[in-house]
Amino acid sequence: MCRGVQMTQPSFALEGKVALVTGASRGIGEAVALGFAHAGADVVVTSRKLPDLEVVADKIRKTGRKSLAVAAHIGRLDQLQPLVDKAVAEFGKIDVLVNNAGTSVVWMPALELEERAWDVIMNLNLKGLFFLSQAVARVMREKGGGSIINVSSVDGLKAEANNGAYNISKAAVIMATKVMAREWAQYGIRANCIAPGFISTRLMNSRWEVDPENKPQILKRILLHGVGEPDFITGAMIFLASDASSYVTGETITVDGGYMLT
Ligand SMILES: NC(=O)c1ccc[n+]([C@@H]2O[C@H](COP(=O)([O-])OP(=O)(O)OC[C@H]3O[C@@H](n4cnc5c(N)ncnc54)[C@H](OP(=O)(O)O)[C@@H]3O)[C@@H](O)[C@H]2O)c1
Repeated sequence: MCRGVQMTQPSFALEGKVALVTGASRGIGEAVALGFAHAGADVVVTSRKLPDLEVVADKIRKTGRKSLAVAAHIGRLDQLQPLVDKAVAEFGKIDVLVNNAGTSVVWMPALELEERAWDVIMNLNLKGLFFLSQAVARVMREKGGGSIINVSSVDGLKAEANNGAYNISKAAVIMATKVMAREWAQYGIRANCIAPGFISTRLMNSRWEVDPENKPQILKRILLHGVGEPDFITGAMIFLASDASSYVTGETITVDGGYMLT
């Protein structure tokens, strides 16, 4: 080791680390929470619905790791500090934050987009993501550092018709990541981003229900393995959470089976 940076064999192990994963009750968040537990982390899982989270927490406990389920609406700022306080009360620290909770509530042309839909998307995908990061970064600063991983999307890199507010929110997540990385490196905090492609989850499948014609065009553009499964995202997450990525900050990793190349 040299100045805290791995110089020889990289370690992807998460033993001794505590992770907080938002949107962990299903889909990508559930897969990441379980992947982290298998890599050795204790995991705080959060979303709005406690019964669903308890199921995931039980799966984590079966791996031999500890888990705490906390219900919180990430779009409501008054629920963020209590979430962080509960995680710290249980585990004493947060080493890794995954800002995964996200929504795309509308599917409509930009000319029709209404303020309420804009606010729901921005409050969760961007505002909640930023202010939860701020609350967790204050804990990480005290404990000597940590890793924040934000979830953007290929839709944050490429404008998709009829999905404007979501596209804009996910592009902003990439810049929010750079701002966090720029300002919080001095506290030993890294911030990186993952931009998933098309992953089979409730969010993705509901989108294709309202716009089925879109699906074959997208499928043609995915070069590897077709539509992804939630655990296709886990490897990149473990890399960014672990000491193997000690020298990486401010980056966005696209995990999309080559979709953005076409
Ligand atoms: N699936 C894809 O193809 C894809 C592609 C690119 C990016 N993404 C991004 O990946 C992330 C996860 O998406 P997913 O596809 O796994 O979606 P999903 O299956 O619909 O899961 C969304 C998760 O977020 C939680 N959630 C929703 N609204 C919330 C709120 N207001 N406060 C707290 N938690 C909330 C949900 O739980 P509750 O309902 O219990 O709150 C659930 O755990 C999102 O940021 C999404 O934009 C997905």
